[in-house]
Amino acid sequence: MLAGGGPRRGGAEAPRGLKPALRLFQAPEGLPAAVRYNDFTMFRAIKEQIDTIFREDPAATGVLEIVFCYPGLHAILLHRVAHKLYGWRWRFVARFISQIGRALTGIEIHPGAKIGRRFFIDHGMGVVIGETAEVGDDVLLYQGVTLGGTGKEQGKRHPTLGNHVVVGTGAKVLGNIRIGDHVKIGAGSVVIHPVPDHSTVVGIPGRVVRARGAEVDEDSETLEHGKLPDPEAQEIEDLARRVAELETQVRALTGAVAPPPVGSHPQEPV
Ligand SMILES: CC(C)(COP(=O)(O)OP(=O)(O)OC[C@H]1O[C@@H](n2cnc3c(N)ncnc32)[C@H](O)[C@@H]1OP(=O)(O)O)[C@@H](O)C(=O)NCCC(=O)NCCS
Repeated sequence: MLAGGGPRRGGAEAPRGLKPALRLFQAPEGLPAAVRYNDFTMFRAIKEQIDTIFREDPAATGVLEIVFCYPGLHAILLHRVAHKLYGWRWRFVARFISQIGRALTGIEIHPGAKIGRRFFIDHGMGVVIGETAEVGDDVLLYQGVTLGGTGKEQGKRHPTLGNHVVVGTGAKVLGNIRIGDHVKIGAGSVVIHPVPDHSTVVGIPGRVVRARGAEVDEDSETLEHGKLPDPEAQEIEDLARRVAELETQVRALTGAVAPPPVGSHPQEPV
């Protein structure tokens, strides 16, 4: 189907005043809307992805290498197109593009998944991202990561990852749980409960071993699932305990220096 001359569905018009040479990059009228999707924004997004790979992967040596040899780049670019089509309810075409991406890269991203900016999948093979997964900005996944469902839920059944999350190789994050900002998930972990911001989670099932940079006591009750550490609540609890102690001390002191009985005269200075 051709897009024709109607209003564009895919985002911003090309900015006015751009140099004529740059206009060459503008996709010609008459191409399917999916191909013309976002025009200049699309080129900026590709550049941003390439910059991200340079930043995250010390092994990356040049733009050509990144463009042709990084399956993570191919997968996310195909996903951006598939997700757009999915939003337009072109469900079959969207799934088909997602399957092409899977065949080419070994990375399966459902077109319904919402993925933020500067997303990078290193190495790629074996990554699966489910339909209702949501991924924030600046997230890094290694090979073999699953953002999946537990198989029991309907509706939103995949995880939501915050910003600046790193998920180590082979880790599984399952169910409709929230993984906070700046969380690191260790290689091979299986995470099935929500994780607070600034934490490191390792093991099966995933346990928080670091919260805001501080080690978490392995024997502590706070490692029980459903009682994951909350540093702010801990601070408030400590303050409340301190206030209670001070109140007890003040009561003891005021009891020792009792106020003079009513009607008595204060002692005259000698
Ligand atoms: C979890 C991870 C991000 C490190 O986070 P960190 O905040 O720096 O934590 P530390 O390295 O201080 O480790 C904290 C504790 O968890 C343990 N740990 C770290 N990674 C672990 C893992 N994947 N599985 C189990 N335990 C792990 C450490 O041994 C340490 O335990 P200790 O305090 O008893 O010694 C890192 O170990 C990891 O798994 N990164 C993924 C990297 C990856 O997938 N690379 C693939 C490249 S192809």
